[in-house]
Amino acid sequence: MEVATRMARTEMGVPEIDAGHEKIACILERVATVAQAGDPGRMLEALGELKTASETHFRVEEEWMAAINYGGLAEHKILHDNEIARISDLMGRITGGGMRPSPRQTLPFAIWFREHLRTADLDLAEAIRSHRRKAGAPAAGAVTRGRGPDAGR
Ligand SMILES: [Fe+2]
Ligand SMILES: [Fe+2]
Repeated sequence: MEVATRMARTEMGVPEIDAGHEKIACILERVATVAQAGDPGRMLEALGELKTASETHFRVEEEWMAAINYGGLAEHKILHDNEIARISDLMGRITGGGMRPSPRQTLPFAIWFREHLRTADLDLAEAIRSHRRKAGAPAAGAVTRGRGPDAGR
């Protein structure tokens, strides 16, 4: 889990995306800790937090992609949707299937997060920074001020 946290602290130069990564990394650490205790109720609570924070963060990235006409939007969104589905699936197996939480279940989330930041999110951050450099467009100003693509609307 430490690797995921360290990766999240590698800034991408888009403040609200960096903030989302930091928040998700913190929750991932909590999920891993809770999983060791094996309490289904606490695990569901932590996974619920992970799901909500991920949905919020993914929406921010998808709004950025739309704002800069990013070519990889559809593909990137599928990665996000699949991850939300994986979190929901585990929650369902704990709730309905009586599955006992274990640290082994949380590892795929940390690995996905690290790999997603290193690949898809890094590409997106570069596209946003490039957009900012080129134009001085409204979205570019929003990046500088640490606000989202909706800034100024
Ligand atoms: Fe991200
Ligand atoms: Fe992403």
